[in-house]
Amino acid sequence: MTDPLPDHEPLRVAVLGAGTVGADVLRLIRLNGEELAHRIGAPLRVIGIAVQDVSKDRGEHVDHALLTTDASALVREADLVVEVMGGIEPARGLLLEAIENGASVVTANKALLAQDGVTLYEAADEHGVDLHFEAAVAGAIPLVRPIRESLAGDRIQRVLGIVNGTTNYILDAMARTGAAFEDALARAQELGFAEADPTADVEGHDAAAKASILASLAFHTRVGLQDVHCEGITSVTSADIAAAARMGRTIKLLAIVERIADAEGTERISARVYPAMIPSSHPLASVGEAYNAVFIEAEAAGSLMFYGQGAGGAPTASAILGDLVTVARQRVLGGVGPRESRYADLEIVGIGSLRNGFYLSLTVQDRPGVLAEVAGTLSAHGISISTIHQEPLPQAEGTEDRARIGIATYAAAESSVDSALDVLDSSGAVIAIDSVLRIEGE
Ligand code: NDP
Ligand code: HSE
Repeated sequence: MTDPLPDHEPLRVAVLGAGTVGADVLRLIRLNGEELAHRIGAPLRVIGIAVQDVSKDRGEHVDHALLTTDASALVREADLVVEVMGGIEPARGLLLEAIENGASVVTANKALLAQDGVTLYEAADEHGVDLHFEAAVAGAIPLVRPIRESLAGDRIQRVLGIVNGTTNYILDAMARTGAAFEDALARAQELGFAEADPTADVEGHDAAAKASILASLAFHTRVGLQDVHCEGITSVTSADIAAAARMGRTIKLLAIVERIADAEGTERISARVYPAMIPSSHPLASVGEAYNAVFIEAEAAGSLMFYGQGAGGAPTASAILGDLVTVARQRVLGGVGPRESRYADLEIVGIGSLRNGFYLSLTVQDRPGVLAEVAGTLSAHGISISTIHQEPLPQAEGTEDRARIGIATYAAAESSVDSALDVLDSSGAVIAIDSVLRIEGE
């Protein structure tokens, strides 16, 4: 470095959490401190690291002398607070305390932002500080900043993609190597992708939290977790994955937020997360392991694709450091960055009013007339079949002949598919409705 270090007093940084992400944040601050000081115009000084257990070994980059269990005292001394502890409380209380004390904050906590981001945005506004959260959506991939800033002059129509690394890792392993769901999940946990409670990943709640953040930013409307239709991957079976492959499709957990205009031109929005079959030729189908990929479709920009590491310590720390440099620079120069924008206040529609293609897998009695009955029920609900596949199932002792029918449909109203499934469920010919998956991207 040829230039002398900036002659500015150090900015005091409190780091809340030193787990998978926090340890990498601390490593990057330590290794790149001098360069960061040049980019910011002031050095960063980590004044403390809040954890639960100060005796744990955290590797060479975490200064044990800075560890504390008194996070509240720590945030009161800081100019900048990085929250990577996760969970709702005490993270929310600590971030509010930091904001009320005039600190700018950076967080990776999508669960908190989706559940009660409003309180944090309003507090940051009131106290004139920055609240940045690039790492909360899709790890290392820049999405928040492109939507909030780069596309601020455009109109976003749709954001669609894979935003959860753990579930993508599981589905990819099940499809490629035939791994069992539980084994793939355990490996994702070992690799540091999964949430502290991996239910948040596999039940789709983590992706739904990200969808709520993306929808709020893209459509200038407050979209909470409760507004996102959410289905996870726990009911996806290896039979579904094999059926998808047979049809030239791949199953991915998708987050979709979109603007929908009716015949009168009234705009509403939809936000949803579910596992879906997509054509194996679709760019999202080849996104493997814990990678994430997201398409943003905007009126003037057209379609933009973002791809990269969506989880893991170092990738997530990269996004946090980007935010940290931004908020630190603002502090040196004065002023604050973009605020929450919710002027559009668009109505959010439920999933029942949408249309989708579906894949239905049914176990049925293997006797004449059953296929006709199933097809008749679908037809009576205005659902048109695009392909159908039937195979006999091994017969268990004392039971009737059974078969599995896999049906792909053309786009149909969600409410019609629900009604048709109710009828099929109570039909004597249908032994079980094994799977219901949406078909997207065709
Ligand atoms: P970890 O569980 O690995 O780390 C959490 C850290 O916070 C630990 O150091 C823990 O202390 C500390 N902590 C937890 N509760 C408290 C508390 N009450 N008081 C003080 N310290 C506390 O989580 P991750 O690093 O994986 O995730 C952190 C955040 O980043 C979460 O919000 C997560 O959603 C988000 N995120 C994670 C990604 C990932 O790939 N892991 C990617 C993107 C975002 P101790 O070590 O003593 O237990
Ligand atoms: N558990 C999350 C995932 C971490 O698997 O994508 C990144 O947000």
